[in-house]
Amino acid sequence: MLAVTATSFDEADPLAGLRIGEMPQPDPPPGWAVVDVKSAALNQHDLWSLRGVGLTEERLPMILGCDAAGLDAEGNEVVVYPVISDPDWRGDETLDPRRSLLSERHPGTLAEQVAVPARNLVPKPPELSFEEAACLPTAWLTAYRMLFAKARAQPGSTVLVQGAGGGVSTALVMLGKAAGLRVWVTSRSDEKRARALELGADQAFETGARVPERVDAVMETVGAATWAHSVRSLKDGGVLVVSGATTGNSPGAELQHVFFRQLSVLGSTMGTRDEFERLLRFLVDTGVRPPVHEVVPLSEARRGFEALLGGDVVGKVVLTPPRT
Ligand SMILES: NC(=O)c1ccc[n+]([C@@H]2O[C@H](COP(=O)([O-])OP(=O)(O)OC[C@H]3O[C@@H](n4cnc5c(N)ncnc54)[C@H](OP(=O)(O)O)[C@@H]3O)[C@@H](O)[C@H]2O)c1
Repeated sequence: MLAVTATSFDEADPLAGLRIGEMPQPDPPPGWAVVDVKSAALNQHDLWSLRGVGLTEERLPMILGCDAAGLDAEGNEVVVYPVISDPDWRGDETLDPRRSLLSERHPGTLAEQVAVPARNLVPKPPELSFEEAACLPTAWLTAYRMLFAKARAQPGSTVLVQGAGGGVSTALVMLGKAAGLRVWVTSRSDEKRARALELGADQAFETGARVPERVDAVMETVGAATWAHSVRSLKDGGVLVVSGATTGNSPGAELQHVFFRQLSVLGSTMGTRDEFERLLRFLVDTGVRPPVHEVVPLSEARRGFEALLGGDVVGKVVLTPPRT
């Protein structure tokens, strides 16, 4: 089957190890199910994998991709919950120390087929297209947990989202707005600030610009480039939720601000299967749909990766395998 794989690691040039070609079809163990992929979506995670983060040399070549929607063996429309926890683990899947995401230990979703534990199949609501559903498992689930489980954001409170164009950031804007929050964003580009306003943000600022008043919560995925601004933009007692560090670790933790102004810094990773089901229901009920930056044939995946690497993306890049 056609698949997109990482064949080697290169921190400086991650696309050097990207290969689009034939790979064996999945041979699932008992209790696992095969999904015919209709749509898959790219994430920064795929670029991290190509840099050797979260993936080891002996697992290469590895099929990339965390997100997919498609058909199970019975022809049911499904979307894949992407956190693979130990079969004996009970409770919050994201706290299982043995968990992995697809493409870390098991072949990922950027292929004609993917195998996952049967419990990771979630019915796709008919109201969502395969393309829309494929955008949700990583970026949108992460955003849902950051806002509602970690920050516990209340309607009417002000939330600052750093890096308006990103997959997680666009989800934060749209989910936050639909839940009655006042959403402010930052971005380096005029165009992305304008797009964030179209998606529902109340105000958009240049990256690092002073905000008109301090906010209740900040959503951070950018890392070093925005961390100090995030800390300084929070009200006393405010909450900073961090789920990513695209620009690397912060050189300064701003500890004086954190303790003296009694800020809470909360890490967040992915979300539970229950949260994923609630996210799907929330989208069906509110009519919110993930913005798709571009739909690219799987055979032309390199183009999608180049766009993601270049940072010139608003929303998600979706890949479609040849049979769809
Ligand atoms: N913990 C988890 O479970 C989890 C889940 C999903 C993602 N993540 C992580 O979260 C991060 C974002 O993921 P994503 O898929 O949303 O990525 P993405 O779509 O590529 O977004 C990256 C964002 O970073 C901003 N950015 C990049 N370089 C910047 C710089 N030098 N200065 C300021 N802003 C910069 C961009 O903002 P502008 O261009 O608008 O300025 C862009 O919005 C990644 O590091 C990813 O690994 C973690």
